[in-house]
Amino acid sequence: MRLAILGGPGAGKGTQAERLSHALGIQWISTGDMLRQAIVAQTRLGEKVATRVKQGELVADEDMIELIRQRLLQPDVANGWLLDGYPRTAFQAEELDFLLDDLKQRLTVAIVLDVPDAVLVERSLARARADDTPEAIQRRIALFQERTIPLLEYYEMRDRLLRIDGAQAINRVHEDILKPLAAQAEGNSK
Ligand code: AP5
Ligand code: MG
Repeated sequence: MRLAILGGPGAGKGTQAERLSHALGIQWISTGDMLRQAIVAQTRLGEKVATRVKQGELVADEDMIELIRQRLLQPDVANGWLLDGYPRTAFQAEELDFLLDDLKQRLTVAIVLDVPDAVLVERSLARARADDTPEAIQRRIALFQERTIPLLEYYEMRDRLLRIDGAQAINRVHEDILKPLAAQAEGNSK
């Protein structure tokens, strides 16, 4: 299975991605975690993106597309993957489809976690990561609305969007995602 999980800052993408990747036996790929690791390791990419990530700005599409291209070519993702926080812009979504065409693969479904802004702020502030200042959180919410919400239509039109109420308890969100995926997997095996 090949999945993407989208949602605002603190929507629970990482929390759900970790559980889903275990439940489905697929690799969890978090672009936010990859960037934070690159920043700590002071790689060329890390140095390039550090300020943007800290301020809650998006990293340039071309850097993200290359990062994902390299990652999806690794042998450990052959059985499937779950992209956490990617794609985030219409351009990234289109480029992902081009890449998957090249690899003769297909995105099974894009999951979006619907969570009210007030809850996003509350959860992010409670977690207090380095980029969880009130200004950076507001900026990430604004960018989610401007850049990521429009691409939901892209997946909806292709009948590949799974919309989930992400404001529920963690276990409930997990079950709501897993049920339709299990039904789909069963349908495909018949
Ligand atoms: P990224 O790391 O993806 O940050 P984000 O989108 O702001 O999301 P978070 O990781 O903060 O939240 P989450 O949805 O994973 O929630 P979590 O499970 O942790 O990206 C960081 C930065 O990298 C971006 O700002 C950008 O600069 C750059 N970047 C990354 N991808 C990019 C891309 N594709 N293009 C360009 N730039 C990119 O949960 C949050 C908290 O809530 C936790 O404490 C958790 O325990 C709690 N929680 C979770 N679910 C629930 C629940 N159901 N009920 C109660 N509490 C819950
Ligand atoms: Mg995360």
